[in-house]
Amino acid sequence: MGRKFFVGGNWKCNGTIEEVNKIVSTLNGGEVPSQDVVEVVVSPPFVFLPLVKSSLRPDFHVAAQNCWVNKGGAFTGEVSAEMLDNLSIPWVIIGHSERRLILKESNEFVGDKVAYALSQGLKVIACIGETLEQREAGSTMEVVAAQTKAIAAKVSNWTDVVLAYEPVWAIGTGKVATPAQAQEVHSELRKWLQANVSPDVAASTRIIYGGSVTAANCKELAAQPDVDGFLVGGASLKPEFIDIIKSAE
Ligand code: G3H
Repeated sequence: MGRKFFVGGNWKCNGTIEEVNKIVSTLNGGEVPSQDVVEVVVSPPFVFLPLVKSSLRPDFHVAAQNCWVNKGGAFTGEVSAEMLDNLSIPWVIIGHSERRLILKESNEFVGDKVAYALSQGLKVIACIGETLEQREAGSTMEVVAAQTKAIAAKVSNWTDVVLAYEPVWAIGTGKVATPAQAQEVHSELRKWLQANVSPDVAASTRIIYGGSVTAANCKELAAQPDVDGFLVGGASLKPEFIDIIKSAE
């Protein structure tokens, strides 16, 4: 089964109305491959979601950067999956390392969030990845397998899941994983899915790479057989995001 290339732009906690309008205008004017070739999803902060959704070209979609683990209620500061669905926001990023590490979201909590978001009809970009310390200790696969296992334990249908492998040491550092490093982990993750979920899920689930992806390094990464796209941070705020989308071809 062919896996459609996926390019996500995670704007993180950045932007003003003026800056958001400028990014959207750049995206709207960009010449990119068709939706048959690449799926593009941008993820502004919650407060800008309605603005971006209403002004973004129809062939690009939007994602929230997080959502609550269960039905909404007395959870000050949280945004529920139901609210995102109500606003017709199709995607949500869950388990980004900035939330795992700074806000102490555990593997189990992330697994619960992924399952709940899916149950409410959202599609999920589920993030995993090891720290530099873990990589240097030789435990990369053990770490990402445990993170994936906690998701697999709660999810039975992987159709609406994109797995984002984002080594923490590569995020925002300019130290992108080499194509060989990315391919090695993506291939191992696919083998993990094959052995622990199913051969079908392993063959069809998109595994995308995140961490210092730029226009300059995306082509070589995109050429790896198990790299099915990118989750882009810093460069997604710049015009070069269009060039990263073009790496799908
Ligand atoms: O979600 C995106 C990643 O954290 C990558 O961020 O491209 O700025 O390294 P970055």
